[in-house]
Amino acid sequence: MMTVSAPNTPVISASPATVEDRYGRRLRYLRLSVTDLCNLSCQYCNPVKGCAQSHHYKLSWDDLGFVADVAVRDLGVEAIRITGGEPTVRPGLTDWIASIRELPGLRDIAMTTNGMLLGKMSAALRDAGLRRVNVSLDSFNAEVFREVTRGGSLERCLDGISRAAELLERVKVNCVLLQGVNDHELEKFILFSHDKNIEVRFIELMPIFDQKEYFHRHFISVEEMKTRIAALGLKLEADTSRGYGPATTFHVAGTGARLGFISQMSDTKCLTCNKLRITADGALKACLLSPQEVDLVPLIAARDREAFAGALCGSFLQRAERYDLKQIISEPVSRTMQAIGG
Ligand code: 5AD
Repeated sequence: MMTVSAPNTPVISASPATVEDRYGRRLRYLRLSVTDLCNLSCQYCNPVKGCAQSHHYKLSWDDLGFVADVAVRDLGVEAIRITGGEPTVRPGLTDWIASIRELPGLRDIAMTTNGMLLGKMSAALRDAGLRRVNVSLDSFNAEVFREVTRGGSLERCLDGISRAAELLERVKVNCVLLQGVNDHELEKFILFSHDKNIEVRFIELMPIFDQKEYFHRHFISVEEMKTRIAALGLKLEADTSRGYGPATTFHVAGTGARLGFISQMSDTKCLTCNKLRITADGALKACLLSPQEVDLVPLIAARDREAFAGALCGSFLQRAERYDLKQIISEPVSRTMQAIGG
């Protein structure tokens, strides 16, 4: 097994290779957005209602197959998370998943979804080889749910979650906890986790696009979330199992509830970050918090394996040790989350 450890080292063609930077972080995880289209328009994700969405996909399924193939076979990526927009709205998703599932070395295929189509699609997704989904669920109140998602149906989301829980290996729920919107439902989420045996991950709000004011109005830190959980008389016990993602997980003592916390605003997990992101229009982002992007489209279109692998490798190796959060608060992420792949 070869290891690349210095910035700008030419890309290795031996496979499987591993890419490790000078801080000991190894590239293991690729978040791949397959479309920026979405059937919802969540306040925190797409702040401008009706925000323009491209109605064409820059990367074809074939292109995305090439991307996955190089990432896994040439660069040692072990896990791919499919994101959007909303991945389930793009026709051909299940066939594409089936086409990458056998890539040697790919241990995990997961997807982030809003759940609207999971009721219908869970069986086909399972048959295609999808193992896990994370479903966004921000409220148990149908009215609040509709407001946050700008038109989504709570019932459909819950139905999608149940169906996926029945058929897939693992389902987690993502909740962006928002001051004054859903923070009074904290206990309900914990009860839900206990009742359904589903991990709930509380995510700190990030300021994106033109959302500075929204951020200041609604942000709740993970520390504050934990204080509020303690005030409910609940005790968190650390869970040492770690997935590919940035969450720290806990059991709630004396219950079946499992909670994850994603503190990308108050405490970045830069030091253990193992991932790269590719947007639906073929831009490589080494970090959500960084405005820098590399246009991968020409390299993908040319099926230039070495140059494409080199671009991924170079971006990964050149990442700063840590990204500065104060900067992101003053200069929010320039794309909507929908256009990055939350
Ligand atoms: N802040 C935090 N998380 C966000 N997501 C999208 N936008 C934001 C934001 N502004 C995450 C949510 C959602 C996933 C698709 O992306 O967790 O579940």
